[in-house]
Amino acid sequence: MRLLMVCLGNICRSPLAEGIMKNRAAAAGLDWEIDSAGTGGYHIGEAPHVLSQKVAMCNGIDISAQQCRQFRKEDIDRFDRILVMDLDNYLEVKRISGNNWAEDKVSLLLDTLYPGEKKEVPDPWYGTEKDYHLVFDMIDRACGKLIDTHLKRVS
Ligand code: 4NP
Repeated sequence: MRLLMVCLGNICRSPLAEGIMKNRAAAAGLDWEIDSAGTGGYHIGEAPHVLSQKVAMCNGIDISAQQCRQFRKEDIDRFDRILVMDLDNYLEVKRISGNNWAEDKVSLLLDTLYPGEKKEVPDPWYGTEKDYHLVFDMIDRACGKLIDTHLKRVS
């Protein structure tokens, strides 16, 4: 399974999603390739936001080595599933993908917990540390559900 986590900046939410998913996949013994990207190019090459790093570390996950990159059209072919944080990310992934677009590969991360409800992981960029903890918990629950569903399917 090759999984790509996507948000706007690849600086707050999707680096957390990448770190959490890598951690959970490894703990479940799954050899998954997990990466993250942003639909915007504002922070290319930067490490995750200090509060994303701090909240991840509070939960035993080190995301400090990650580097921001922008989502590109070829990612649609390279990955089996692309999980986006909000509806704007979904539309941008669709726009950037152009003629590579594959609807069956792209979904909202929180669809795993709330199918069909179009729930979004809120952007904590202008928020406080509390918002980063809330975002961490949402992403963590969704990643946990994704792994559980996969393990049930293959068992
Ligand atoms: P993210 O948050 O999409 O969760 O990484 C943002 C980070 C940066 C910006 C917007 C959202 N920005 O406008 O620079």
